[in-house]
Amino acid sequence: MIRSYLNKAGTFTKLLFGLFLIVAVALTDFYTTKDVSFSIFYLIPITFITWNTSKYFGIAFSLICAFIWFYFDTNSLSEITNYALHFWSTIVRFGFFIIVTILISKLKILKDNQENVIIQRTSELLNEISEHEKSKAELLQKSSQLRELYKKIETIKEDQNVQIAREIHDELGQSLTAINLEVNWVSKKHSDNPDVVERMYEISKIVENTIGTVRKISSDLRPRLLDQLGILPAIESLLKDFKNRTKIETELNMPEATAKLDSTGSITVYRICQEALTNIARHSKCTIVYTDINIERNFLILKIRDNGKGFNLKNKLNETKTLGLISMQERAEMINGSLEIKTTENHGTEIKLMVPIN
Ligand SMILES: Nc1ncnc2c1ncn2[C@@H]1O[C@H](COP(=O)(O)OP(=O)(O)O)[C@@H](O)[C@H]1O
Ligand SMILES: [Mg+2]
Repeated sequence: MIRSYLNKAGTFTKLLFGLFLIVAVALTDFYTTKDVSFSIFYLIPITFITWNTSKYFGIAFSLICAFIWFYFDTNSLSEITNYALHFWSTIVRFGFFIIVTILISKLKILKDNQENVIIQRTSELLNEISEHEKSKAELLQKSSQLRELYKKIETIKEDQNVQIAREIHDELGQSLTAINLEVNWVSKKHSDNPDVVERMYEISKIVENTIGTVRKISSDLRPRLLDQLGILPAIESLLKDFKNRTKIETELNMPEATAKLDSTGSITVYRICQEALTNIARHSKCTIVYTDINIERNFLILKIRDNGKGFNLKNKLNETKTLGLISMQERAEMINGSLEIKTTENHGTEIKLMVPIN
């Protein structure tokens, strides 16, 4: 308590306290016999004053202490027999006090310097931290802007897909059907000419194939089932196609009830399923895919699990070429959902998507 009080006190109070210490030491010196060496205790006020005020006060206190010691040493100046000897001893003591004073003041300067370095470094560190915080906030802002941009691009892309799919299906599809009718008409009209009939048959086959291709392109752009019957039948059809294409077994569990998702919600879930199945076909080397769809409270929970080779998720996410995984996550967040990927090497992969529904 005294220490903290003295730390805050002004120079005058410290000097008073130093004088008080001198008086205490002097009185003790006075009441003990001359034979008891007391020199070291005079260092207490000297050290105190040098440390807490300045070197010059330390020198002044050294002088006072040397004089008091001289005074008691000569029994209040009454026993001065050999002036030179007493004078020499006093000079030596004074010198000793001065050396201590200088050492203490050097030590104090060192400590103050060190404190200054610490204070300066701390303030630099605080500046660095605030800079860091600023860049972090900027990064977060940029990342949220990028996310918004991604959302916008995805929406525009899907809108365009709808438009192109409709144009292709309706315009091109109808024209091709009309061509087919015309071909059939020509074929019937020239039924007596086998060459024409055969040519018309070939043309009709090509047109049929083209109609199939047009339907496929249109359906890839925007699955009609999605808008006509909703997300669950669309996923069912996706899995059927997947099985036919890859010859990988599929198992699907889904509820009877329909999941009410808006247009953005259902196309987003559909695209996530597509990417998950593409990854399974491309990378997993699995033999079966389990798909579970549940509706719990207000959430659609979709799990797609394969029994393939799995992968090291942490390593993969550190690579730059994982746009598929990242886009699945971004898409899920776009519709306020979440996507969890669980995978262990040689033990398959599971994608769990949770999306709020109406
Ligand atoms: N179901 C899976 N089974 C095994 N590995 C997978 C699976 N899904 C993803 N991966 C691994 O994760 C990587 C990143 O996937 P993705 O981001 O979709 O990129 P891409 O499919 O273009 O390689 C893949 O290259 C693959 O190594
Ligand atoms: Mg992929």
